[in-house]
Amino acid sequence: MRRLRKNEKLRELLKEYNVTSKDLIYPIFVHEKNKVEEIQSMPGQFRYPISKLKEITKKVEDLGIPGILLFGMPEKKDELGSESFNEKGVVQKAIRTIKENTNLLVITDICLCQYTSHGHCGVVCDGIIKNDDTLNLLSRIALSHAKAGADIVAPSDMMDGRVNAIRSELDKNSFEDILIMSYAAKFLSSFYGPFREAAHSAPTFGDRRTYQMDPANILEALREVELDIQEGADIIMVKPALAYLDVIFRVKEKFEMPTAAYNVSGEYSMVKAASKMGWIDEKKVIDELLLAIKRAGADFIISYFALDYASL
Ligand code: PBG
Repeated sequence: MRRLRKNEKLRELLKEYNVTSKDLIYPIFVHEKNKVEEIQSMPGQFRYPISKLKEITKKVEDLGIPGILLFGMPEKKDELGSESFNEKGVVQKAIRTIKENTNLLVITDICLCQYTSHGHCGVVCDGIIKNDDTLNLLSRIALSHAKAGADIVAPSDMMDGRVNAIRSELDKNSFEDILIMSYAAKFLSSFYGPFREAAHSAPTFGDRRTYQMDPANILEALREVELDIQEGADIIMVKPALAYLDVIFRVKEKFEMPTAAYNVSGEYSMVKAASKMGWIDEKKVIDELLLAIKRAGADFIISYFALDYASL
């Protein structure tokens, strides 16, 4: 076997997998304040105002990254998260700005948690997160993003039937060309911790375990994926990525669908922290982690490392 590893040229020639900037999607946070704010729990990531989006997205585009995933942080939150489908809301404005200034693929997160006063991903009634009442709102959010110019909408709420509801609403309004990337197997994960600080989206009571999946379950993950495909998802996503490489692998093997993986905030921040302590070689660890996600079966990776990785 060692003859094959004899020198760099041979090793390069025989490499089975490779991650390039073309395999990555960069998440961007946009807020309504008029300044760039560093996210404390995610060093090197920022909340951007609309006025700075042109600059950062141009940079993303110039590095060969094909698209971004957009998260909005509204000033006003309410019980129903009504800012989320405001046609003049922060994400809707951001989509228009990015579309006017770049040719990037714009993917938008469809969820209520950043917009609701209680921080849950659905409508709350007597402390219960109501499934079917939420579908209506998710469809409205998706439609408002499509109208603003989004290419792909990505529901992350984990309500049942949302892909079907969103697909119908988009088709009814002549947006049959807009893709749906569903967070199909989204686990209840502590790796979302830094994101919740970034997006101010932690629930004010209880947790998300009645809608996000138990990390112990893989057959259930396959059922989630199957249902989303039946409902019309174009791309399916597994999230988080690193502790769920087996899920990515099984999903790709079983369904042979376009498959994305979300290398989430906690996975990013752990690397940053260890690297700051001088315990790991940050660049090499990132190379290895992204490679592992691709080798597991992801066609592309949503990652906060995208910008740094592509720059290097
Ligand atoms: C919204 C949403 C979350 C993430 C993406 N969309 C948070 C959550 O479900 O609590 C997490 C992303 C990350 O950790 O990087 N529902």
